[in-house]
Parts: sequence; C-alpha cells; structure tokens
Amino acid sequence: MTKRLEGKVALITGGASGIGRATVEKFIAEGASVAIADIDVGRAQEVADAVATPAGEGRAVAVGVDVSSFAEVEAAVASAVDAFGRLDVIFNNAGIAGGKPLLDHDPEVDYEPMIRVDQHGVYYGILAAGRQFRDQGGGGVIISTSSVYGEHGAELSFTYSAAKAAVIAFTRSAAYELAQYGTRAVAITPGRVATPIINQFSDELRATFAAEQLRGALTQPEEIANVVAFLASDEANAINGTVVQVEDGYSS
Ligand code: NAI
Repeated sequence: MTKRLEGKVALITGGASGIGRATVEKFIAEGASVAIADIDVGRAQEVADAVATPAGEGRAVAVGVDVSSFAEVEAAVASAVDAFGRLDVIFNNAGIAGGKPLLDHDPEVDYEPMIRVDQHGVYYGILAAGRQFRDQGGGGVIISTSSVYGEHGAELSFTYSAAKAAVIAFTRSAAYELAQYGTRAVAITPGRVATPIINQFSDELRATFAAEQLRGALTQPEEIANVVAFLASDEANAINGTVVQVEDGYSS
C-alpha cells in the first residue's frame, strides 16, 4: 500500500514531546521526511535518533527553535528546506499551557509570555511556511494545534484560551489568503491528551479530565497524530479553512 505521506517534507514544532513527538513518528511511518523543531533541541535530537530506524534513516533532523521569535521560525523553515529540498507541511504545534485566576494576573507574567509562544508562534509559522510554499510554486498544508479551550474558553486558562481562539481565526483567514497558491490551512482542537502537559497533574485531576470525554479516558497522542497525518495528506484536500475537533465529545 502506498504510504500516505510518501515523499512529503514536514516541519513539526514542539516535535520533541507529546502530540508533536507522536506526529513525528507517524509522519516517518507514512513516508515523510521531518524537521523536528523544538526549543529543547536535545530532546528533539533524541526523537530524531529514535526514528532513525533503517526505514527512517536520513528522514529526520532536529532543529532548535523558539517559536516566539519570527527570525528563528524563518530559520527553522530554511533548515527543513536545506535538509530535504522543499517543504510540504508545517504543523504549528509547540505550545505552553497553564494559568491562574484572571483577577490575580500580572499581564507581564500571565499574558504576554504565553501569547508570544501560543499565538505569535503560530502566526510566525503560517507566515514563514506560507512564503516558502508560494516561492516553491504553491501547494502546502498548514496544520495548527488549537484546543477545546479555544472554542469554549475555560476557567484558569484565560490567556491560553485566547491564544487558542486566535489559532482558529488565523487558520480561517490563512485559508482565504493562501488558496490562490493552492495552500490549505486546518486547525485541530484536542481535548484532554495524555502528554506531559496533563501528566503533571494528580491522579485525581487526571480522572476528572478523563471523565470529561465520552470514552471516559484521556486521548492518546497517537490518536491525534493519526488525524494530523490524514489532514496533511492529499486525501484531505477538501478540508480547508476549518477546525477538526479531535476531542472525544469533550464537555467540562
Ligand atoms: P508537550 O509539553 O508534551 O509538548 C510541547 C512541546 O513544545 C515541548 O516539546 C516543548 O519543548 C515545546 N515548546 C514549548 N515552548 C516552545 C517554544 N517557545 N518554541 C519551540 N518549542 C516549544 O505538550 P502537548 O500536550 O504535546 O502539547 C502540544 C500542543 O497541543 C500544544 O500547543 C498544546 O497547547 C496543545 N494541546 C494539548 C492538549 C493536551 O491535553 N495535552 C489539549 C489541547 C491542546
């Protein structure tokens, strides 16, 4: 059977952990070459080494990037192109979570730093990859990780929810702007996924999170990666400018 992403080149931010790491593994299994871009370049290199099985050899590189810097995101796109000759997919997935009661916020601590990563980082990825797609003759897919919080809002996650809502708005507008180049843009909204972001919490809180989804369990990162691989593939060419909910019926 032909692999779903055979010959495609992807840049995956936050690829050193959680959803990003699972997506790197899935993309490699589906035949893609992957630039694993993360602020933790050591762990990104570990992932690159782990997927360098005989079948995956030469198809993964680690790239250090802080997505809150446009210059670094541009450099990461350039690194992917240097390594593999082109770029077909960007998965804007790096993010940080957390929060405290709104009225306890210090804007310089509780708003701006998170917006720089979770919101500006996605904007920079869309801009840098969009230009690359245009300059190499069009096409390309932009997938960005929002969250159920971006649709519903949430207690104790004021800034995070705002950034994740922006990811949805960016995606819709990018699809309109970039359709002329044949570029697609899609956002995903995971619910509760078993990654370090969630695993840091107590068993009790994790059980509460699991109960918020219809299967009564946390989503596995591999289940998100399966959807991202489909969205990145040509099988999903009719999915554009929209949000794909991978949230197992989440309701809080
Ligand atoms: P994770 O903590 O396992 O992975 C996040 C990765 O992003 C880490 O490797 C980290 O080093 C990297 N990163 C953080 N700041 C960065 C920066 N400034 N530049 C480059 N890389 C940076 O978390 P997880 O759960 O895999 O999160 C991935 C995405 O999924 C995030 O955008 C998160 O907000 C989103 N999400 C996660 C959910 C969950 O339940 N785990 C639910 C909904 C959305």
